[in-house]
Formats: sequence, structure tokens, C-alpha cells
Amino acid sequence: MSDNNMADPAVKEVVKGHARLERNITLLGAAALVTVAIGGIVEIAPLFWIDNTIEEVEGMRPYTPLEQAGRDIYVREGCYLCHSQMIRPFRDEVERYGHYSLAAESMYDHPFQWGSKRTGPDLARVGGRYSDEWHVQHLENPQSVVPESVMPQYGFLAETRLDFEHIADNLSALSMVGVPYSEEGIEAAREDLMAQADPDVPAGDMQARYPGAQARDFDGDPDRITEMDALVAYLQVLGTMVDVNSAAAQEVLSGETGR
Ligand code: HEC
Repeated sequence: MSDNNMADPAVKEVVKGHARLERNITLLGAAALVTVAIGGIVEIAPLFWIDNTIEEVEGMRPYTPLEQAGRDIYVREGCYLCHSQMIRPFRDEVERYGHYSLAAESMYDHPFQWGSKRTGPDLARVGGRYSDEWHVQHLENPQSVVPESVMPQYGFLAETRLDFEHIADNLSALSMVGVPYSEEGIEAAREDLMAQADPDVPAGDMQARYPGAQARDFDGDPDRITEMDALVAYLQVLGTMVDVNSAAAQEVLSGETGR
């Protein structure tokens, strides 16, 4: 503050007032509370009026019934205890795992799989990075691919038929918490699941409901649908729905960073 300003009687008054405030603990506490409350209201109040705090990005769709079944196996087996699914916007992570994760990319995840433990690598963008055969071999015997791996063996998944009797109920429950599955989608859940895992089953409207869904025999055993089929279908879709380099996604991103 220059001497010139100090000479201004109005400024003098403010400085005097502030000195009083700083010496009175009760007054200072009350003033701090009011100031923080204003900041809090400005931040929190709009959340009550806007429908969605996540900016939607083109390409996001709910998981297909097969992918969702695979996701449930992922959660059941506790893969999240060693793997996160959230690439943070740091250079080392982006260079290793790919574009950092967008909020919209986990908007249909219940429960989310962000995770806080990385014994193994982040899996948010593992989709398409390896072949189905690689995943099957790696899940059956991780040490055959990465000798020093501490990942457990999950060979039993390929031996276990996928129980999808209640898959429609699963989708229905998810729709209750906001995942936009349509009535027809829920009704056709079993057929859609079979159509994705078995190329011989007519696809029906599966592709229209789940654009870009990859339909094939994932586990190399075309005779039956196993838990391995579901888990590999899930791993192969991770991080692939949104084209993060597209113009639309970039627009959302520039909004995010400009905040
Ligand atoms: C005890 C910790 C642990 C558990 C549990 C675990 N993993 Fe792993 N995972 C690892 C480690 C360590 C690696 C890195 C070495 C390797 O590739 O095997 C890895 C690697 C992977 C990779 C390769 C990732 C890449 O980018 O190279 C995939 C895919 C994977 N795990 C999937 C799973 C799935 C699915 C499950 C649950 C069925 C699971 N993991 C459970 C520790 C674990």
C-alpha cells in the first residue's frame, strides 16, 4: 500500500475496521463463517437445480448384457483390489495408459471401479490393447505371459458356464439407478447376451441398442457361453466407447480444463 493510499480517509477507516476485526476472536469467527458460507452456497446450490453434473460425451452407452455380466464377475473376483480404472491427468499415467479418464466414461458404472490400489496396471483403457487369446491365456495363467506376475490364475472362469438367468433383473435394477436401459432392452437381455457371445445366434436389434458392440466368441470355445466370455467382452470394451480424440470430446475437455 502506498503512502498516498494511506492518506485517503476512506482507506484509513477500512484498515481501522479490519484491525478491530482481527483483534476480536468472536467477531473474526463470525465474519469467517459468513464468508465461507457464501463460498459454499455458490458452489453447492447450483447442484440442486442442474440435472446432471457430468457432461455427456458422444459414444457413451450402457454396457451390453454380456459386458455387464463380465463386469459383475470382475467385481465378484475382486479384480479391483489390484487394478484401478481411472487414468489421472499426469504425464506418466497418460504416456503409459493413454488419454486420461473422463467423468462421463464411468457414468454407467455401478459400483464405480476407480480404485486406489495398483498392484497391477490401470485397466481403464485396456480394451483393444490385446487380443482375446492373450486375455484368455493371461487370465488362465498370468505367469505364462508375464513370468514375474503376482496375479492369481483364473482358469476356472473358462470352465464355468455363465449363469445369466437373471440378467434382465440386473439391467432392470441398473435402470432404477439411472442407467438408460429401455424396456425392450431389458426384455431382450438374454437374447442380446447370447447374440454377442455366439456369432451363430441372429443379432436382432442388439447392434442398434448397443452401437459398436463387438460380437464374437471371446473365449475360443464356441460351444458354450462361459464366465471367461463375459469377462473378456468386458475387458475389451474398457475405455473404447468414447473416441477421446474426436472434436466433440475435445470440446468437453476444453470446458473441463477451462474451469
Ligand atoms: C493380486 C493382484 C491382482 C489381482 C487380484 C488381479 N490382477 Fe490383473 N494384474 C496384476 C499384475 C501384477 C499385473 C501385471 C503383470 C501381468 O500382466 O500379469 C496384472 C495385469 C493384468 C492385465 C494386463 C494389463 C496390461 O495393461 O498389461 C489385465 C487385463 C488384468 N491384469 C486383468 C485382471 C482381471 C480381470 C482380474 C480379476 C479377474 C485381475 N487382473 C486380478 C495383479 C492382479
